[in-house]
This record gives sequence, structure tokens and C-alpha cells, in this order.
Amino acid sequence: MDILDKARMYEEKKQKEIEKGKKPEFHVTPPVGWMNDPNGFSYYEGEYHLFFQYHPYGTNWGPMHWGHVKTKDFIRWENLPCAMAPDQCYDSDGCFSGSAVSHEGKHILMYTGVQESGDGKTEQIQCIAVGDGVNYEKYRNNPVIDSSMLPEGCSLSDFRDPKIWKEEDGFYSLVGNKTKEGGQLVLFSSPDGFSWKFESILDHGGAEYGKMWECPDFFPLDGRWVEIISPQFMRAKGLEFHNGNNTVYFVGDYDKQTKKFQREEAYGVDYGMDFYAPQTVETADGRRIMIGWLQNWDNYLTPEESEWSGIMTIPRELKLVDGKLFQWPVRELEGYRQNKVLHQNICINKETSLLALKGIHGRKIDLLLSVDVSEAESFSVHLAAGENYKTTLSYDAQKQILGMDRTESGIINDLLCTRFMKAAPVNGILELRIVMDRYTIEVFLNNGESAMTTLIYTPLEAEDIWFESAGTVLMNVEKYDVELGAR
Ligand code: FRU
Repeated sequence: MDILDKARMYEEKKQKEIEKGKKPEFHVTPPVGWMNDPNGFSYYEGEYHLFFQYHPYGTNWGPMHWGHVKTKDFIRWENLPCAMAPDQCYDSDGCFSGSAVSHEGKHILMYTGVQESGDGKTEQIQCIAVGDGVNYEKYRNNPVIDSSMLPEGCSLSDFRDPKIWKEEDGFYSLVGNKTKEGGQLVLFSSPDGFSWKFESILDHGGAEYGKMWECPDFFPLDGRWVEIISPQFMRAKGLEFHNGNNTVYFVGDYDKQTKKFQREEAYGVDYGMDFYAPQTVETADGRRIMIGWLQNWDNYLTPEESEWSGIMTIPRELKLVDGKLFQWPVRELEGYRQNKVLHQNICINKETSLLALKGIHGRKIDLLLSVDVSEAESFSVHLAAGENYKTTLSYDAQKQILGMDRTESGIINDLLCTRFMKAAPVNGILELRIVMDRYTIEVFLNNGESAMTTLIYTPLEAEDIWFESAGTVLMNVEKYDVELGAR
């Protein structure tokens, strides 16, 4: 049996056995096995397709396949059979990350093939596969871009994750790469998607933004261009960025003549503990939607007994506000809200200690908090709480810093458990939207000004929510359950 058929049969059998009620419900997870980066997020024949880095046979990274799901509304996802397996000599060490476009009724995938180049080293090359939304055939003349097309000084072994897009004058592809100094993005062009030529080094980070730039994305938004990169081996700077693998964006201007990007300041895309390698798609109605891998390379939390590992974020609508990237859960989520509970003008202070509010609990929820912190020293909300568990979001009103702490979420290893971000109230009010889907917590501040995403594997019976403050806090709480059955 060939490698792709084997994967398809295995996942079909296993996904029936895995208990659905124990997986996130409206976030993408693999049918079985390991998942990392989102790949090929694209619009094809009226539906949105998402592929992902996939190793069906274990809950750790392994020989990379491309898993596949699709959706009409970004909330309800349908599993499709595994799209690609490492079954050619040029990708025998893995079908690494890449992207997709639709063209003349065909779905074109562009990915990195990894192969042994002898002497224990691997080579990374860019390949094409063409399909109909379910089955994909690898192009007979693969690779379409190889390292001989790179200018001198570019790494030949770190050359991956092509982002393909179409413009009026043809196709473009931006590939992650590095030099001795640091990460960079290399731009190629093609009239037909199959024959490619080098265009430019679109951007180079020098020593400042990590050593290698993975998983680039590059797109126009609200009159500017946005470049998103996932740098490896980066150092933290105060609360901006964090060590290791994080995700950075630059807003700037793209000169289509010189094929150079003039970037402005760098910012983190997400300030939580688990967010990496995002990709975006433009919707039929012109929205730019981003999805990321809701996990982190350095912190492996998957419970031992689990037969799957890896969750994607809620797809997020992007916009620019005063030159900064705002993100907000895709509006279609609101169509799945059920059981509204509203508490207004709730006052908490020292005497209140831990406050539970009627109907405010759950692990599959959309929770909106509007908190007047102008008289407060601090404010906390404990999520996924129970006798032995809690994950705490806490606000230091003096320092204007919001923290996430999962120390008591059930973790039994010495893993990263806290992270902080700046959070300034607007007219004394802190607006927090918290989306949870069993094992995920995504926090959106002040209409999407920043986001903080964290994975917890707390047992599902811990579903309480408690509030706490030092000083006086006045708040409104609005909560919905998210139910896929609701539509
Ligand atoms: C990013 C990454 C990519 C690579 C893929 C391999 O998380 O390292 O650069 O293509 O994962 O699975």
C-alpha cells in the first residue's frame, strides 16, 4: 500500500475511535496524531480549505504529511482525507509547511520538500501539487524552486514555508530563509505557478529578529502591507516578543517595482504562551482572516493518554488601527452563541473575596467582561476552576499589565506557566473577550488591540469561573455557551 493510502486508512479508522466530547469542538484538531503549523489556508470553489503539518501515527512530530479540513464559516469544520504524504524522493523527509491558491478551477498547493542530501544533511526545496479539493497530484517536474536559485550567502538547508499568492501580473512566492546574520524572506515570481525565478530579498532582519524566519505571510490590509514572520531563536525584549519561537508582524509599504518591503516597528502578534506560524486568507467578502497553531514548540503539554496533539486558534479577523494589527474572533462565531447570561454593575472589592456569578461557568464559552478598574489595585478572573485547578488572568491596575498563569491548570512538568502583556484601560474600562473551547483560552483586549492565547489540559469537570479584586471593581459580565448544534 502506498504511503498516502496508508495514512488515509489509518486516520479514518482512528477518528471513529477517538471520543469527540473530549476534543475542542469549534477549533481545528487533527483526526488522530500530531498537528503543527496551519498550511494552505485558502478559498477554493466556495469553501475555505485548511491543511496542516501532520504526523498521523503518533502524538509527537514525525514524517510530515499534510492533513486537511474545510469549512464554510470558520467554526464548523469537516475532516477530509490526508492530502499529501512524504512519498517522493524529493520530499521523502517530509512535506513541510506551505500555502495554496486557487487558479482556473484548480487548487494549487506549494510546499517545502525535504530530502537527505547525503552526509547527514537535508536540503529544502519548493514543490507544487495540484488538486480538486480532495485529491492532489504532485507536479512531475518538482521541485519548482531549488536552492541553486538563491543568491550567495543564503542558507541552502533552511529554505522553507513558501507563501504563494496571485497578482494581476502572475504568481509570487515568499520563502523563509536565513544568512549568517539572521532571518530573511526571499521573493520569487512565476507567470504560471510552475516556472519560477528569483526576484528579490524582500526583507532581512539582521541580528535583531531571531536566526531563521519561518512561515512568512505577506498581504495588503487597509491600504498598507503586513508582513508576518515566525522567527526561531529570538530573544525577548521586556514584554515584547518572548524567547524562542514567537510571531512578529511589521506594517509597511511594498514597492512593487523594486520588490522591497519598507517595514516599520516590530510587534508581537500574540502575547500568550501558545501561538505560532499563523497564516491568513482573504474571504469572498474581502475580510483578512488569520489562523495560528495554538501550541508552542518548547512546551509540550499533551496528556500522555491522548491520541491526538495540536489545536488551531479561532480564526481571527484582522484590521489595522493606527498602524497596529487588531484581531477579533471571526464574526461567524456569534451565530453559535447560546444561553445568554448577563450580569450588570457587579461590584467586587476586598470583602467579596472569590466571587462566583450565577450561570457564569463552562469550558466552551464566549465571555465578555467590561471591567471598570479605575478604583482597583488589581483584578483577577479564574477560569477552568474547580477544587484543585484554576488558570488565572490577573490585572495589575497600577502597572497596567495583564498576566496569564496556568501553574495550577493541572500541569505536572516544569513547563512555562506565566506570561504578561501591557493592557491600558480605555476611559478606566478594560474590555476582555475570552473564548474557551475545552482546552483553549484566547483573550482579546479592548476590541482586539492585542491577544493572549494559552493551552490548558485541565480536566473538563473544572469549569467554574471566579472573580477577585483588590480595591473596588465594577463590571459587566456577558456569557454565552458556544454550541455547534445551534445552527
Ligand atoms: C514551523 C516549522 C516550519 C516547517 C514545519 C515542519 O513550525 O518548523 O518551518 O516547515 O514546522 O513541520
